[in-house]
Formats: sequence, C-alpha cells, structure tokens
Amino acid sequence: MSPPPPLEVLDVHQEFRRLRQRLVALDGVSLTVDRGEAYGLLGPNGAGKTTLVKVCLGLSRPTRGQVLLRGLDPAHPRARLRVGYLPEGHRFPAYHTGVSALHFFGRLAGLEEATLRRRIPELLELVGLSDRARDRIGRYSKGMTQRLGLAAALLDDPDILFLDEPTDGVDPLGRRHIREVLLATQERGTTIFINSHLLSEVERTCDRVAILKSGRIVREGSVEELTRPTLRFRLRLAHAPAWPLPALPGVELAARNGHFEAAAADLESLNALVDELRRQGGLIAELAPLGSDLEEVFVTLLTDENAAAPGARVGTSGERP
Ligand SMILES: Nc1ncnc2c1ncn2[C@@H]1O[C@H](COP(=O)(O)OP(=O)(O)O)[C@@H](O)[C@H]1O
Ligand SMILES: [Mg+2]
Repeated sequence: MSPPPPLEVLDVHQEFRRLRQRLVALDGVSLTVDRGEAYGLLGPNGAGKTTLVKVCLGLSRPTRGQVLLRGLDPAHPRARLRVGYLPEGHRFPAYHTGVSALHFFGRLAGLEEATLRRRIPELLELVGLSDRARDRIGRYSKGMTQRLGLAAALLDDPDILFLDEPTDGVDPLGRRHIREVLLATQERGTTIFINSHLLSEVERTCDRVAILKSGRIVREGSVEELTRPTLRFRLRLAHAPAWPLPALPGVELAARNGHFEAAAADLESLNALVDELRRQGGLIAELAPLGSDLEEVFVTLLTDENAAAPGARVGTSGERP
C-alpha cells in the first residue's frame, strides 16, 4: 500500500462563538497535499488561512470534519514528528542571538546537542544569517527574523513544512531569499504548505494553489491551470446595436460598466460575434484580450459575488445565514 499523503483536509468546519453570535471561519474545506509538493493557500485577510493551519497542526479542533497528517490525527504527538511550522508574525525573545534561539528551540524539539552543533551552522548558512549569528535578535530586521524563523522551522529536518505568511512585511530582496530557501527545501523532498495573502509569493513558489474566500475554497489547481488563457475579451462599442443580441452558440456576452465582457468557446465563435455585431450596425471601438494572470483570477474571484460562498459570516446561533 502506498503511504498516506502528507496532508488531507476533509470537510473541515470551524466556528467561533462571540457572545451569542457565531462566526464561520472555515466552511467545509477539503484538500489533499501530495508528497514533495509546494501547496499554496491564497486568500485575503480573514479568509480563514491561519485557522486552517492551526487545525492542520492539531493546535485547534475543528467544529466538524477531519485532518490527517500522514494519515494520523494531528493531535497525536507522533503525527507532528518532523513537521515544521513557521507561525504568522512570530516573535523571538529579543535577548536571544540567532544561535541561542535555534539552540533553545532545538532543545525544546528534543534534538540532541551533537545534532544541534552540526545543524545550527548549516541552517544559519542556508538562510544567510551566518555572519549575524551572534547578534542579538533585537537588532534583526523583519526579513532576518523571518529567515531565522524559517531556520527554526527546519531544525528537525521536517518532511512537511507549514508556513503562515512567511514573507509578510519582508522587503523584495528578503522575499527572494526566502523563496530560494523554500525551493532548496522542496528539492530535498520536503512537502510545503504556504498560507499567503500575497499572490506573487504563491505564484512563484507553489506547484498548486487553492484560493480561500470566506472559509471556502473557491478555486484549486496548478498556477498554470488557474491562469490558462481563456478566450475572454473586453469589448467596447462606439455604437451598439439593439440589446440584447440574439444568443450565439459558444459566446457569452455580459454587460459591464460601459463595456462588455465576451467569453468565447473558440476563435470561430468570437468571429461570429464580431460578424453579428457588425451586421447589426455595431461599431467596434475596442476588442482586447482580458489578462489571465493569477492576479486576474484572484481579483475576479474575490470580487465576484457569485463565485463564492456567503462567507466568513456572522450569524445568529443555530441558523444558517
Ligand atoms: N480564536 C478565535 N476566536 C474568534 N474568532 C476567530 C479566532 N481565530 C480566528 N477568528 C476569526 O476567523 C476568521 C478567519 O481568521 P484567520 O484564520 O486568522 O484568517 P486569515 O489567516 O486568512 O487572515 C476571522 O474573521 C477571524 O477574526
Ligand atoms: Mg492569517
């Protein structure tokens, strides 16, 4: 039998209660992360990303649903062996140096002195902090703190690494550095799960991406799948024929603010639309392909009310909004 996947999330719901109100932070999330993959969970602030990671690590219990970490309940200590975690906005005590912090966390993780003597300099080298290793953390920049956090998360040579907003507040150079460390880590066979509200991070680092909106996954796929060019066009008419146009096979036309958005199954359908518009006396002022980078997909999904769920909503106890 093949080993279980590093991470399986099965219909996870998480609700929080505040006074008599309930807040649905996760509303039926399911996903599977395969071995060796870098998986990105992308979503705006408040979407439920941190909540999901905490459930994945067994730090909080879901209201409903289940998580399997290498086939085990994450609350089980054995399930969390060799699982790395970089929490969102973590803080090290400022009096530590890079070396002493790693030593402290390494001991907490139960690593032997001999292992730490070898591992700490290796990791400091990997994250580019060798020359600042004996400086107090209080003097580190945000980027250096994040890189040290990454080193701490890698101490136990994890085969699954969870990162919650690893590059938030880090400058572009620091981001690139973190990205390079993650790539190197993935190449060594570690499975990576990244939470981010930063599209560019996920786009550049991850093999597969899920977009989380208000506690629900609204899209999932490889970056390539999510951004595959579709025949979508912005259409502006200087002179419009009678509206609505007769339905054309393979064409969907939607009126937007002052222009139209056309989605065509293929080039023939698109040209048939142009013919029809012209035949009816329409005068085309603009026909431009719509960008389909991940940002476009992301923004469209987050702004399109129909694309998703009612969301991380506040409702009165007991009833579904
Ligand atoms: N312990 C908690 N108690 C009450 N509400 C919470 C708690 N943790 C998170 N939330 C709420 O759940 C929603 C999702 O939060 P979070 O998972 O932190 O989002 P993200 O990490 O995507 O920014 C937010 O509305 C947040 O306020
Ligand atoms: Mg968060």
